[in-house]
Amino acid sequence: MDRIRLRGENALNGSIPISGAKNAALPLMIASLLTPEALVLNNVPRLADVKQLERILENHGVDIGVHARRPVDIDDRGQQMTLTAAEIIDTCAPYELVSAMRASFWVIGPLLARMHEARVSLPGGCAIGTRPVDFFLYGLRQLGAEIAIDEGYVVAKAPKGGLVGGRVELPRVSVGATHTIMMAATLARGTTVIENAAIEPEITNVAECLVAMGAHISGIGSRTLVIEGVADLHGTSFEVIPDRIETGTFAMAAAMTGGDVLLSGARTDHLQTALDAISRAGAEVSVEPNGIRIVRNGNGLTAVDVEIDPFPGFPTDLQAQFMALMTRANGVSAIRETIFENRFMHVAELMRFGADIKIEGQTAHVTGVPELKGAKVMATDLRASVSLVIAGLAARGETVVNRIYHLDRGFERLEEKLRACGADIERIEG
Ligand code: EPZ
Repeated sequence: MDRIRLRGENALNGSIPISGAKNAALPLMIASLLTPEALVLNNVPRLADVKQLERILENHGVDIGVHARRPVDIDDRGQQMTLTAAEIIDTCAPYELVSAMRASFWVIGPLLARMHEARVSLPGGCAIGTRPVDFFLYGLRQLGAEIAIDEGYVVAKAPKGGLVGGRVELPRVSVGATHTIMMAATLARGTTVIENAAIEPEITNVAECLVAMGAHISGIGSRTLVIEGVADLHGTSFEVIPDRIETGTFAMAAAMTGGDVLLSGARTDHLQTALDAISRAGAEVSVEPNGIRIVRNGNGLTAVDVEIDPFPGFPTDLQAQFMALMTRANGVSAIRETIFENRFMHVAELMRFGADIKIEGQTAHVTGVPELKGAKVMATDLRASVSLVIAGLAARGETVVNRIYHLDRGFERLEEKLRACGADIERIEG
């Protein structure tokens, strides 16, 4: 298993290109199931999760072509991917493929809409919480689907003639349920209203792509989505938004080490709450014509309290990284996680660097320490693992992060991008 070895205490200086958003690229790829025509996606990041979804879609019969510049340049605009689901050859998404990644469960929406049936393995638990699928099942039932659970699979059937529009009021904000029900409703007969919809930028990106494919969706960007079903969708060419979580991660890394970093291609409107927190913590955050610049010279970090919330709140996917930053701040910071019940697994690992963190229910109290010391640590999930890299960048001496396959799921060329800004970091293979 690959590891990352790094030596800390180097300030980061330079420019980091932000890749396409994983959490937009995945549902956009899934949207290809809705049309027999080609969907061309630009700026798709090269990630293990994208590869895994390619396998799942190919199993349903999607033909996938990837055009990338070779050799891959650190500054390029990601891959261009053409997905053509001329014919769906299999409406079953098997356990072996779905269990590796929760987002693959979302194929249930388009399969049911287009083929009127789907058999999709339950995604199962995940390291960050139980993550049930009850909202998906409720939403699809509101569109007329009959759903049963059979040997670990969700077996869904649309009524004769296909799904019918309905009213779906989500009990709490869910990104995955919103994507899935929205995609299913595009081909349903009649009008669907989704209340309490997620408004994450990735939802807007997917909704706009669906509109470009011929869907009728209004209320994009609001908590109420209204979808008038159409008979068919067509192909289009569409751009994946820049990754706001990668942006926030590098912004926190720069704030942690000090220095001057331009996050090229990044968008502030997708990340305002987290950027405000970084700026209150003591880094200068400025908007440049081609991205966001983070500067911290000399001044220390200040403790800042944050509460994790759905967009536009502070993202749960940046909670671990912000906690790493707060380990070096002056004072005590309270970080309250409200989305996933078990997303503090990085705490024990951060403490190996000498961090002082106490958990009380869903809140972590982080008391800043004057120094972190390099350590051998283990990645437990995608965002937790990158928080260990951030801690290692500021720590005295050598850090080794084990099990970095988690990192490869969601960060494109992480070591390369950090190394280009002066970090002493390398991947050790095997
Ligand atoms: C998406 O997961 C993201 N994944 C996650 O990013 C992100 O942490 C999460 O949204 C929250 O922003 C992708 O986009 C691929 P949810 P998702 O449904 O859709 C509960 C990463 O690191 N819930 O919005 O699975 C659920 O348990 C990943 O890139 C139910 O109770 O999250 C959670 O507490 C990790 N029943 C809350 O809702 C359901 O049927 C929000 O989860 C569905 C969800």
